[in-house]
Amino acid sequence: MKRVAVVTGGTRGIGEAICEALKHAGYKVAATYQGNDEAAKKFTEKTGIPAFKFDVGDFDGCKEGLAHIVKALGPVDILVNNAGITRDAFLHKTTLKHWHEVVNTNLDSVFNMSRNVIEGMRERGFGRIISISSINGQAGQAGQTNYSAAKAGIIGFTKALAQESASKGITVNAIAPGYIDTEMVRAVSPEVLSKIVEKIPVKRLGKAEEIAAMVVFLASDQAAFATGATFTVNGGQYFA
Ligand code: CAA
Repeated sequence: MKRVAVVTGGTRGIGEAICEALKHAGYKVAATYQGNDEAAKKFTEKTGIPAFKFDVGDFDGCKEGLAHIVKALGPVDILVNNAGITRDAFLHKTTLKHWHEVVNTNLDSVFNMSRNVIEGMRERGFGRIISISSINGQAGQAGQTNYSAAKAGIIGFTKALAQESASKGITVNAIAPGYIDTEMVRAVSPEVLSKIVEKIPVKRLGKAEEIAAMVVFLASDQAAFATGATFTVNGGQYFA
């Protein structure tokens, strides 16, 4: 029986690459998305992967959305918490709204999704929870107090849940990508971005596929001994 994988924010950017790689590796995949219907439609036409629309920042929305996914594909074996947003500004210019938006979408979502799949995983004795953190949750980034805090929060969540879940056949890991060539990174001004790329030892942005490959490994049976870890994939920009 094919295992079922759910990827939040799966219709664009790193999430899209993760969905495609998991499908290629033989999983039944569902993507979730919140707002961009057009991108979701294109994604499903291109990949054949269904996209389910709900807000990962909303606990009840996740519960309902996951119920639709389970009905369509079966119980969730692999959860990839990938959905994320930025609202960059120095703290003295950051609004409370932008603080909450980033923490809600990037960190509350990890609770909302994981809480709604963990009981089933424990009952079935198998699960993989893989959350996309960031180099900026490890190193901090000026202009991203909200994002850095949320991404660092994912790392603590991962370590705690890994301890709770190890005896139940469930592994819980985080991946900390560096600067990957996606819309999110291209939104940084070209001057700022070129200074960042200069500091990456491999002298380029990462590719979404390079994060997806790590997800495929962590989802596999071969990765059963890896849990509670944060896997850094950043071109040597920061040694965590
Ligand atoms: N450290 C310290 N100071 C810095 C700095 C840094 N890294 N970057 C800029 N500054 C300084 C500037 O030199 C400037 O100082 P002066 O006023 O003395 O000249 C001051 O901070 C303001 O900088 P800006 O002119 O850039 O201010 P702004 O208001 O136009 O923009 C910003 C602020 C939006 C935060 C902008 O600096 C920025 O985009 N920074 C990059 C943030 C970033 O890396 N985001 C990552 C997005 S991608 C992502 O998040 C994915 C992932 O996981 C990696």
